[in-house]
Amino acid sequence: MMKKSVLIVAAGSGSRMNHETPKQFLRLGDQPLLMHTIRRFYDFDPTISIILVLPFAYVETWNILCARHRFPIAHQLVTGGSERFYSVKNGLGKATASGLIAIHDGVRPLVTEALIKRCYDNAARHGSAIPVLKPDESLREINGNLSKPVDREKFRLVQTPQTFDAKLIKAAYHRDFQPEFTDDAAVYEAAGYAVHLVEGDAANIKITTPVDLIIAESLMSGSKT
Ligand code: C5P
Repeated sequence: MMKKSVLIVAAGSGSRMNHETPKQFLRLGDQPLLMHTIRRFYDFDPTISIILVLPFAYVETWNILCARHRFPIAHQLVTGGSERFYSVKNGLGKATASGLIAIHDGVRPLVTEALIKRCYDNAARHGSAIPVLKPDESLREINGNLSKPVDREKFRLVQTPQTFDAKLIKAAYHRDFQPEFTDDAAVYEAAGYAVHLVEGDAANIKITTPVDLIIAESLMSGSKT
């Protein structure tokens, strides 16, 4: 069995939520959203190593929340940076270079055990596993004031957990930031490694705007019944 780690990035400021509190600390059901995310990985494998990346300014808040909710899952804390790239890089600095590591957005609390397993299994075989979805809606490409329809069959929406051979993704992050590094697959590929796509999950939504929180509440209560 290969060693499994997960790096959960939650150091964003959540400006699109129109809320002062970053979305990862908002409540979903009975606890902060981020606790659900961490628990999903722990439930998948209680021996997993968990690294959590938080904004420096929220470390104290998080410790208080953990005490208040008696959050029992052990994890290592790291502080983030101004871009997701730097937050991941800081987290990887604490990760071991052996086994597999999943890198997951803290704001995707509905990730399922099936998807987590698919990502680790494929990363073990192929070096990487990137969950993607076919777009449901039509797509148009914008060019200034003009736009044109494009073939949506040629596009995929990219989710997390993006899962990698830990040694390779750590090596890939030894590079400078580029604005096109919006996810880990892009960094891995820039290092010359091939990304392997796997089927994502439509319920694994990224909580970005207030409507996402309402959808998540509903999916969460549905999954408990
Ligand atoms: O900003 P974006 O929607 O890409 O955020 C995706 C995830 O990355 C979120 O969980 C967010 O907290 C995290 N993030 C981070 N550090 C940043 C920006 C985003 O850890 N500087």
